Amino acid sequence: MPFRSLDDADVTGKRVLLRVDLNVPMRDGKVADSTRIKESAPTIIELADKGGKVILLSHFGRPKGSDPKYSLRPVAAQVAEILHRPVSFAADCVGPQAEAAIAAMNGGDILCLENTRFHPEEEKNDRGFAKELAALGDLFVDDAFSAAHREHAANTSIVTVSGLPAYPGRALKTELDALERAFERPQRPVAAIVGGAKISTKLELLGHLLAKVEILIIGGGMANTFLAAQGKAIGSSLCEKDLITAARDILVTAKSRGREIVLPVDVVLARQLAINAPSRAASVDDVGPAEIILDIGPRTIAHVISALARAKTLVWNGPFGAFEYEPFDNGTMEVAEAVAELTAAGRLVSFAGGGDTVAALNAASVIGRLTHVSTGGGAFLESLEGKTLPGVKVLMVEG
Ligand code: 3PG
Repeated sequence: MPFRSLDDADVTGKRVLLRVDLNVPMRDGKVADSTRIKESAPTIIELADKGGKVILLSHFGRPKGSDPKYSLRPVAAQVAEILHRPVSFAADCVGPQAEAAIAAMNGGDILCLENTRFHPEEEKNDRGFAKELAALGDLFVDDAFSAAHREHAANTSIVTVSGLPAYPGRALKTELDALERAFERPQRPVAAIVGGAKISTKLELLGHLLAKVEILIIGGGMANTFLAAQGKAIGSSLCEKDLITAARDILVTAKSRGREIVLPVDVVLARQLAINAPSRAASVDDVGPAEIILDIGPRTIAHVISALARAKTLVWNGPFGAFEYEPFDNGTMEVAEAVAELTAAGRLVSFAGGGDTVAALNAASVIGRLTHVSTGGGAFLESLEGKTLPGVKVLMVEG
């Protein structure tokens, strides 16, 4: 893909504006999951070690204006801990405080600027604000794949209004390379697992995947709507009745294109969604009116695993069942373990992403055993839909 390479960037003594995604979950004022920080740590360290003045730029949460609850100060402290290096902090991302903090930097120093969303101009992609940000640096590096679907000042206009030389950071480039490996030159057959609660949020995704993959495995609440489209009784399960026709169209298109669709043939049923609720496994033809489908059953797990054993590449977005409620996490856990084993055996190239998916894969302890797990939620989904993300587009160069 046409990007500048960080290998060629001369950063010594330069002010490097590094867009990272410090939008991390917090608990009791502390970072609860530092995956995104750890992913960008190599880029931060590399730039600092090359003598750059590394200026971290990020949003955090969705504040309405400047709200101390969404200050990046505690996150910057966690960045310092992870890097084992001092990270200074400026209480604004533009204006005199940012300028003074940057003026005091030496090559190799790291500074974190306050939440870009404290300025409403950030989300409006305001050109004037973007110019103020751009004026703080000599070059721009974007390592925030998970924010690249947002067309905001600190990741798009900052480049387009300024002409700053712009580079993908190491973590962002890894994400792009993984997507390219899955979609541009994959080892075939390619399988996709699409799960999660609703078809409505994944219609575009399903449409795009039908054009790209040989095997489409559908799980989660959205599978119920497909079962309803096949004329099955699904009891009191989650179902988007207005999308039954759309689900039927997808099945027809898949058939006409010779795609294999894997849907549940058996399910785990309960009368309420609760941890350890009494449950039973049954065929999809045997769902009672008061029962709720909460997971895939053992025969379906076996079907999914055998489909994956025939595939060479897998893209996974969305869990199979109500994985937050044991034992309804079983289908997702078993498939996750099988994916990890096929990957370890060199038989499958596996890519996964999305907030719930990553949480489920974490619970299954397979994160480090897949080929690539994306840090992106919305960004991963939009990439799977075939879109070029605005934050990625601005990094592209001619040729
Ligand atoms: C994310 O967490 O997916 C990114 O940081 C983007 O955050 P946003 O959905 O608030 O724009």
